[in-house]
Amino acid sequence: MSKRKPLISGNWKMHHNHFEALQLVQKLSYQLTSDDYEAVDVSVHPPFTDLRTVQTFFISEKEPVPIALGAQHCHHEDQGAFTGEVSPAMLAKLDVRYVIAGHSERRELFGETDADVNRKVQSILRHGMTPILCCGETLEEREAGSTEAKVTGQVEAGLAGLTPEQVGGMVIAYEPIWAIGTGRTASSEDAQAVCQVVRTVVGRVAGAEAAESVRIQYGGSVKPTNAAELMAQPDIDGALVGGASLVADDFARIVRFHA
Ligand code: PGA
Repeated sequence: MSKRKPLISGNWKMHHNHFEALQLVQKLSYQLTSDDYEAVDVSVHPPFTDLRTVQTFFISEKEPVPIALGAQHCHHEDQGAFTGEVSPAMLAKLDVRYVIAGHSERRELFGETDADVNRKVQSILRHGMTPILCCGETLEEREAGSTEAKVTGQVEAGLAGLTPEQVGGMVIAYEPIWAIGTGRTASSEDAQAVCQVVRTVVGRVAGAEAAESVRIQYGGSVKPTNAAELMAQPDIDGALVGGASLVADDFARIVRFHA
């Protein structure tokens, strides 16, 4: 068994207003127990407009809810004339612990480059939060045999300029784009093979200690029925869950893969 504590993260994408968000985290918090939190770290990543509501719920319960608050994206500057953007300083002030950086939807639909993602990762760390750096290949890239090259390039670029300590405390999510939202999960062998590549790249750029401690999530159609098998792989330390994180029962069952 690895010493790394698994992290199961729910990426809600652009779903749920703040009322629906509150209902979801209430249900989730009633289902998860201290045994779950002991075995697994859990984060939820609601839309920006829900963050304050969810934060307030977590801290106002009699026993504060040990689910970490996450964001899906941020700008790299602390403040400025960037209409529509949200800064890492603002997120840190809301007790946000994890921020997703470079999700494939941000890269593909909003033109984020590797350099943008690296700037974001640096500023998330500067504000004391943990980046979840995403990487993953398209179907064409997989079929052309360039998965390893694509993922290696994204991870190297995303980690540029970081200290080994910073890298070791991070989370990297391997999400094959063809598996996101399609119901088509990577086989646990394929997912493991790429997560192993990611760990090797981390070792090369930041050293063996960072490679040993960095947590690597798999993402792409993770469901209650396939979570345990994916999590059993030696280099998979958690999951970044989209669709199934919108339903409290399903997400709780994924968190309970260990039980
Ligand atoms: P999915 O999304 O679980 O709906 O495939 C995963 C993600 O995009 O993080």
